[in-house]
Amino acid sequence: MLSSQASFKQQYGPWAIVAGGSEGIGLAFAELLAKQGVNLVLVSRNEQKLSDARSVIRRQSAVDLRCISADLSHEDSFSSIIQATTDIDIGLLVYNAGAVHGADFFLDQSVESAIDLVNLNCHGPVLLAHHFGRLMRDRQRGGMIFLSSMAALAGGSYITTYAATKSFDIVFAQSLWHELKADNINVLGLIAGATATPAMAASGFDIGQKNEEGLPVFMSSSAVAKEGLDNLENGPIHIVGDVNRASADAFNQLSREQLVNMMSQATAELYNKPS
Ligand SMILES: NC(=O)c1ccc[n+]([C@@H]2O[C@H](COP(=O)([O-])OP(=O)(O)OC[C@H]3O[C@@H](n4cnc5c(N)ncnc54)[C@H](OP(=O)(O)O)[C@@H]3O)[C@@H](O)[C@H]2O)c1
Repeated sequence: MLSSQASFKQQYGPWAIVAGGSEGIGLAFAELLAKQGVNLVLVSRNEQKLSDARSVIRRQSAVDLRCISADLSHEDSFSSIIQATTDIDIGLLVYNAGAVHGADFFLDQSVESAIDLVNLNCHGPVLLAHHFGRLMRDRQRGGMIFLSSMAALAGGSYITTYAATKSFDIVFAQSLWHELKADNINVLGLIAGATATPAMAASGFDIGQKNEEGLPVFMSSSAVAKEGLDNLENGPIHIVGDVNRASADAFNQLSREQLVNMMSQATAELYNKPS
């Protein structure tokens, strides 16, 4: 559970940075953090989406807000993020951006798109965690959340680079969790499954679909973000949602071969590809 507002702000405020904070799960994190009275730095590429996010937060809270338009898959962007935050004390890093990926065989995608994904999901977390982690270590408190995916638990055809980079995020979070505990910095690898976000809708998914029992197939962004913040002190990892946790348990009963075959088949069905 979220600790009291005062102790939450003391540990993770006065500022938080949400990388990929203008919509979907990132915006849901931002809204919850604003409700806790934590000032926000939102990073994403599209200025209009950032401006819309600013209006959403403004309607709910009077926290200070900075928006930085930057592409996290380009190394040059990081100096602008660092320069724009030199005068503020950031106690929480949420590295959220990262879902952007096509579904195709690895060799049929451009190598540039694969490298962009490596930059977004591996390079970006390393750069921001190193920079803000040192500042958190100096003040002896803070937190970091790295978004990962159920896809990272096995990998499979059509999402090779995505799954591999998301697996990096889990192991990165786990290791940092152990290293930074002594410095009072809580680190969490947050493993999400299907979530109703604009990015998923833009990829052609019916994010409102229901299963045979009439329950939503996609979790809401706000439920994912809430579980993330509620479990920030329960690292090193947290799998979001009962259904995803049950799936992860079932994965453990399978051989690696069975698991990768099953993931590949499920991905093919999801993206309407030959299995
Ligand atoms: N949605 C799901 O079903 C699902 C499932 C499992 C895991 N996850 C994980 O949850 C996280 C969030 O997913 P999401 O579905 O909300 O979509 P997302 O596209 O990863 O995140 C959306 C946010 O990230 C920003 N963003 C995307 N690429 C960026 C880049 N190169 N540089 C800077 N900002 C960037 C977007 O704004 P701009 O487009 O304006 O840059 C937006 O603010 C991801 O890490 C994803 O892997 C999602």
